[in-house]
Amino acid sequence: AADIQSELTQVLVTEEQIHAKLEEIAARVSADYAGKDLLLVGVLKGAVMVMADFARALPGPMMMDWMAVSSYGAGTRSSGVVQIRKDLDTDLHDKHVLIVEDIIDSGLTLSWLLENFASRGASSIEVFALLRKPDAAKVEVNCKYVGFDIPNEFVVGYGLDYAERYRNLRDVAVLAPHVYS
Ligand code: PRP
Ligand code: MN
Ligand code: MG
Repeated sequence: AADIQSELTQVLVTEEQIHAKLEEIAARVSADYAGKDLLLVGVLKGAVMVMADFARALPGPMMMDWMAVSSYGAGTRSSGVVQIRKDLDTDLHDKHVLIVEDIIDSGLTLSWLLENFASRGASSIEVFALLRKPDAAKVEVNCKYVGFDIPNEFVVGYGLDYAERYRNLRDVAVLAPHVYS
């Protein structure tokens, strides 16, 4: 753990760029949800950082809940099998749900989650993903709010991990292939 910099090849999105983008999207979301009961659903664990900063960028009221799902385990590829590790505590009936994700990679996690949420009676369900990899999509995900489209590289930081490490980096950076190959 001594020299994290040697395990990264380049910074893709800086902390400053992230925070500017969160302000921009928070302004859009608060206008879009004016007068509505907004429930943010963070997808653990990757979305912890974006949820914490995005929620505080929102000027208006909201509720917060968490769902824990995992498909990557300790690898760099999605297993394709999404497991619920913690379900919501909140009844979605009549709520306007905004799912907050760190990244859409293959799209498998979110498409599974959207299907899982579809029958829970929400008034609306939309997605905010800070990052999206258009070249990695295996399934299309209808994502209303996107922070940054990024190239198809394995990225870590700002909540994103490789084998549970790197989540605490402030920027989003490309993991050096020697770390996982
Ligand atoms: C990562 C990431 C997204 C998902 C995106 O989660 O946080 O939730 O993968 O990949 P996909 O579009 O290919 O499904 P992960 O399964 O690694 O769990 P974590 O959030 O606990 O790290
Ligand atoms: Mn995740
Ligand atoms: Mg992960």
